[in-house]
Amino acid sequence: MSFEIADTLDMSTPDAKRASYQLLEAQVRSVLEGERDWLANLAQFSALVYQSVPQLNWAGFYMAHGQELRVGPFQGKVACVRIPFTRGVCGACASTRQIQLVPDVHAFPGHIACDSASASELVLPVLVGDRLVAVFDLDSPVMGRFDEDDARGLETAVAALAAGTDWPSS
Ligand code: SME
Repeated sequence: MSFEIADTLDMSTPDAKRASYQLLEAQVRSVLEGERDWLANLAQFSALVYQSVPQLNWAGFYMAHGQELRVGPFQGKVACVRIPFTRGVCGACASTRQIQLVPDVHAFPGHIACDSASASELVLPVLVGDRLVAVFDLDSPVMGRFDEDDARGLETAVAALAAGTDWPSS
């Protein structure tokens, strides 16, 4: 790694947020450089996002196995292990392969509350070609924490991870 990771990125204004997500993408590339092992890379990616994106209480992966998600590398409190594609925000992301931006989790039908502190959530599909390998889930104790800029910034970071990783076969 050629530079130190900033502890918390500045996301106080839209301009600062855009610059911070560009820096995050550069940090992802730096952290993953020379390493394609999926477990190592997902662990590092979760730690990097949790450390540098402000106001999170959980950040990590659910891996796709058939029509079920199973918890993977993450940072935060102990979480539920298995989530069918038919349940919760993560399941909605897996079944639709669309980013789920949920400003108020209590208003989302079927939301699975792993931590009662969570108020808003962002879940991104991790796609390798046309194959869904995982979803990346971020929770925040702040209502309405995530917006389109967060979605786009994290989508770019997840795409860099997907391209820089050798994924397991199932
Ligand atoms: N809230 C998620 C479950 C995973 S935890 O937030 C870590 C959901 O509804 O799918």
